[in-house]
Amino acid sequence: MEGYALVTGATSGIGLEIALNFARDGIHLILVARREEKLNEIRDRIEAQYGVKVLVLAKDLTREEAPDEIHEEVEKRGIRVDYLINNAGFGSFGRLKDTDYEKEKDLVKLNVLSLLQMNKLFIPAMVERHFGYVMNVASLAAFMPGPVMANYYASKAYVLSLSEAMHEELKEEGVKVSALCPGPVRTEFQERAEMKKTDTAKAFIMEAKKVADAGYLGLWRGKAVVIPGTFEKMVPVLTKLMPRCLVRKAAFLSQKE
Ligand SMILES: NC(=O)c1ccc[n+]([C@@H]2O[C@H](COP(=O)([O-])OP(=O)(O)OC[C@H]3O[C@@H](n4cnc5c(N)ncnc54)[C@H](OP(=O)(O)O)[C@@H]3O)[C@@H](O)[C@H]2O)c1
Repeated sequence: MEGYALVTGATSGIGLEIALNFARDGIHLILVARREEKLNEIRDRIEAQYGVKVLVLAKDLTREEAPDEIHEEVEKRGIRVDYLINNAGFGSFGRLKDTDYEKEKDLVKLNVLSLLQMNKLFIPAMVERHFGYVMNVASLAAFMPGPVMANYYASKAYVLSLSEAMHEELKEEGVKVSALCPGPVRTEFQERAEMKKTDTAKAFIMEAKKVADAGYLGLWRGKAVVIPGTFEKMVPVLTKLMPRCLVRKAAFLSQKE
């Protein structure tokens, strides 16, 4: 039985580029996202170009049952998931007092709960086989509080902390866990989050392919935390050196430009 890579949020941006990396290396794919038509188009393109098998599962991961349904479908088909990429996520822009509660709740369901569920469902079999790779997509946002995107930044701090702890817990078990922490990336993310295009974001924006390539390499190398970009790598250092009150003020100012 050949191992598959399961990628959530594979219809655009970073997730799609990570999926393409696996396909180039001849690894079969399970692609998860909500837009079925787009998933089917991507499947047809990847199968024709790279000759790997692609299973698409159109699921809304904010539904609590979705991770179980994905796991059941994969088990039913006798597919072995060796690589799990928890990438689906979205942001919500605005002061927390003004944003829509249902949207903030969905953000936690997707960025936090579904990621936790997917890890819980797929990792035990990897541990049994003493083989597996997991990438949880966090963000540079994970290293600081984020006024005007408070819930999003908090959700990514959760993903980073969870992944680093899992990295230690699982490294003796043959399972490598990485947190990918990009700064701003040119994807559908900004529009979906209804973000303003600040000068800081414009100056540092990276292409999704570059970010995905760095994440993919870091995953193979078994790195706990992968931060694409040179300046970006300094951010965790700076946020540790600066007093926390300045970090949150700077984060607020960068959104106000
Ligand atoms: N772009 C940035 O600046 C940036 C920076 C740091 C970290 N990140 C993180 O990178 C990850 C990927 O984001 P991206 O920038 O590539 O954004 P994107 O282009 O908007 O991609 C998000 C992906 O997630 C899927 N998705 C969204 N809601 C979903 C749901 N409820 N259920 C299942 N799939 C869902 C989307 O597909 P469907 O709409 O088809 O469901 C899409 O494939 C996210 O976790 C994001 O937080 C992004």
